[in-house]
Amino acid sequence: MARKKIALIGGGQIGGILALLAAQKELGDVVMLDIPDMEGVAKGKTLDITEATPLLGVDSNLSGTSNYADVAGADVVIITAGLPRKPGMSRDDLLEMNLKIISDVGKNLKKTCPNAFHIIVTNPLDSMVYAFKKVTGFSKNKVAGMAGVLDTGRFRSFVAMELGVSVEDISAPVLGGHGPTMVPLVRLATVGGVPLTELLSAEKIEAIATRTRKAGTEIVNLLGSGSAFFSPAASAIEMAESYLKDKKRVLPCAAYLEGEYGINGYYLGVPAIIGAGGVEKIIEVKLTADEKAALMNSLEAVKTAVKETKL
Ligand code: APR
Repeated sequence: MARKKIALIGGGQIGGILALLAAQKELGDVVMLDIPDMEGVAKGKTLDITEATPLLGVDSNLSGTSNYADVAGADVVIITAGLPRKPGMSRDDLLEMNLKIISDVGKNLKKTCPNAFHIIVTNPLDSMVYAFKKVTGFSKNKVAGMAGVLDTGRFRSFVAMELGVSVEDISAPVLGGHGPTMVPLVRLATVGGVPLTELLSAEKIEAIATRTRKAGTEIVNLLGSGSAFFSPAASAIEMAESYLKDKKRVLPCAAYLEGEYGINGYYLGVPAIIGAGGVEKIIEVKLTADEKAALMNSLEAVKTAVKETKL
């Protein structure tokens, strides 16, 4: 079987970790694309990882480019092109600049990678994935946003820290937009199948949910420049792997809704089955009135950002 091809659009902080993880997991060959001014960095990072492959014991060809012809025919495209947040900035503050970048990237990928599964990471996530779908006209199954996997990962990490148990045994779904309005579904969080609500007090759980909502900002403030990159990369790789291996994992991600949850025509974080068909199915969770209201509140924030794209 020929190796799969993974295109990384953006070779910055997240792009570099994506390349390392994709190689380490032998998901396929990696082509990292950046703007012409940064082509050397894309070439340098991928050569550096190539030189690590004998030590890692993996076979993956990695290369850097600024030419879209080199990413043509990719099976998966992960897009991180754009500016990251600085302290004091919200994800929405990035909208104007990153919209231009996403539109440019979308036009190029429409010509070169029409059959790929596209994973958008660039913030503000929910409006950028919407813009990418509008610009490319790709099917909703083949365009998804990476946010829920990360938000869930953060929620799981915080529960594990609190309880002193393995992160592997924690399931903690998060719905909604990738921002302060996201909805950690504490009612459905479990630890080894036991409801979290039976293991921790309501106050402790609320503190964890609040930290989850603000987790991206916590990292931005600690780093001082740039935003989180290890965990976003690991999250996007989880989605790519589920697609490439047809694992049909149930992963929360920004998916295009057409009636699910009573929402039409927007991307919002929901649990989705990701397999060889891309986003194959959206799972509808029965929500309480409070959860539904929180989800609608999150949708309003997403709608405001989407309106700004004028698409
Ligand atoms: N085409 C390709 N790459 C581009 C383009 C473009 N039109 N415009 C910018 N880039 C590249 C930059 O040159 C840079 O190398 O995107 C890269 C972004 O890297 P970083 O600035 O290091 O940002 P990173 O931390 O990787 O985050 C990228 O993901 O989580 C989001 O908020 C984050 O929007 C940000 C994105």
